[in-house]
Amino acid sequence: MTDRVIALVDAGRRKPLPPVADVAPGLTRDRLGRPMRDLRISVTDRCNFRCTYCMPREVFGADYRFLPHEQLLSFEEIARLANIFASQGIEKIRLTGGEPLLRRNIERLIEMLAAITLPDGKAMELTLTTNASLLERKARALKDAGLKRVTVSLDALDDPTFAAMNDAKFPVAKVLAGIDAADAVGLAPVKINMVVKRGVNEHSILPMAKRFKGSGHVLRFIEFMDVGATNGWRMDDVIPSSEIIRLIGAQMPLDPIDPNYPGEVAERWRYRDGSGEIGVISSVTQAFCRSCTRARISTEGMLYTCLFATTGYDFRALLRSDKSDTEIRAAVAAVWGARDDHYSEIRSAQTAPQRKIEMSYIGG
Ligand code: GTP
Ligand code: 5AD
Ligand code: SF4
Ligand code: SF4
Repeated sequence: MTDRVIALVDAGRRKPLPPVADVAPGLTRDRLGRPMRDLRISVTDRCNFRCTYCMPREVFGADYRFLPHEQLLSFEEIARLANIFASQGIEKIRLTGGEPLLRRNIERLIEMLAAITLPDGKAMELTLTTNASLLERKARALKDAGLKRVTVSLDALDDPTFAAMNDAKFPVAKVLAGIDAADAVGLAPVKINMVVKRGVNEHSILPMAKRFKGSGHVLRFIEFMDVGATNGWRMDDVIPSSEIIRLIGAQMPLDPIDPNYPGEVAERWRYRDGSGEIGVISSVTQAFCRSCTRARISTEGMLYTCLFATTGYDFRALLRSDKSDTEIRAAVAAVWGARDDHYSEIRSAQTAPQRKIEMSYIGG
C-alpha cells in the first residue's frame, strides 16, 4: 500500500541541506562544472491521461492519493522561488505537471513569472509542457499572460494507438486542434514530443514525421526512459534514436544540424528539402548528463537536481520558515554546488527498479 503514496514527502525521501555559506548572486556551478540554467516547476501532480510510461493506471488508479491543495506551493511561493533562482543563473522556466493546465488560474502564475527580469535585463524564457487536452480553450489566455511557447505531448496520429499509449479516451483530433490554436496565437514554434515504445507506437514514427514535415512545428522523438519506479521499463522496449533517424532518413533525407544552445537535450536534424526539422532525445543510448543544466521543483516544493533522483531538498519548509530570500538563495547555491548527478550515464537493468521520484510529480 505504501507504494501508492509515493507522491507524498516522507522523511526518507528528504535530504538534509548541504552546508550553506553566504554567496553573492550569480551563476552557480555544480561539482561537474555544469551551470544551473533551467528550472522546471511542476504545478500539479494530477493528470487526465494515464500514459503507460508515466502514470500507469494500475498505480495511479481511483484510490491513488494525490497531494491535497495545502501541500502544493502557492503561486506566491512559486514566484518567490523563481525570482531567487533567477538571481542564481536560471534563464528559462518550464511549467510541467502532471498536466499543468489542470491547475486552476495557471494564467495568473504565468503573469507573475513573465514579470521576472534577469540580472542582465532580459526577460525570462517561459514555456510549458502539456498534453493539449485543454489547449484549444486556453491558448489565447496563456499567450496574453506572457507564455512564450508550448511543447505538446503526442505519441500517435490514430486514436487506437494514442489510447494504447495514454490509456485515456481522448481524440487525437482535439490535440491537433490544440496545437493549431497554440500556433495561431503565436505560442510558436510548437514542439511536439513523441515517446516511442517498441511494439506499441513504433508504426506511428513515419506517419508522425510526414504529418508535421513542413508544418513549422518541431517533432521530437524521445527514447522511452525508466523514470519513476512504476512504468516497468525494459531496455527491449527502447527504440534507439539512431534507428529512428535511419527509418525517416531513408524516405525523407535528413542532415544533422547544430544545437540551438549549449546543453540542448534534443539532437537536431533538418530535412534536406528545406521543409523543417525534427529532433531526437536519446537519454538512454546517448546520455547528455555532461551538459545537464536543469533543476526541478516538485509540486510540493522539493528541489531535485536530477530527473532520476530518489531524494530531494525541502524548499517548501524554507519558504514557510522565517528565512530571507538571501538565505534561501544561499541554500539553492549550496544544493547546486554539491550536485554530481549523472544517472543516464550509469543506467542499467539494476538501477531501473530504484525507488525514483515519479515523472508526474516532478515533471518532464
Ligand atoms: P526546449 O529545447 O526549450 O524545447 O526544451 P527541452 O528540449 O528541454 O524540452 P522538453 O522539456 O520538452 O524535454 C523533452 C523531453 O526530454 C522530456 O519530456 C524528457 O523526456 C526528456 N528530458 C528533458 N530533460 C531531461 C533530463 O534532464 N534528463 C533526461 N534524462 N531526460 C530529459
Ligand atoms: N520516457 C520518456 N519520456 C517521458 N515522459 C514522461 N514519461 C516518460 C518516459 N518514461 C515525457 C514525455 C512527455 C513529457 C511530459 O514527459 O515527453 O511528453
Ligand atoms: Fe499526463 Fe504527460 Fe504523464 Fe502522460 S506523460 S500521464 S500526459 S503527465
Ligand atoms: Fe540531467 Fe539526471 Fe537527466 Fe543526466 S539523468 S541529463 S543528470 S536529469
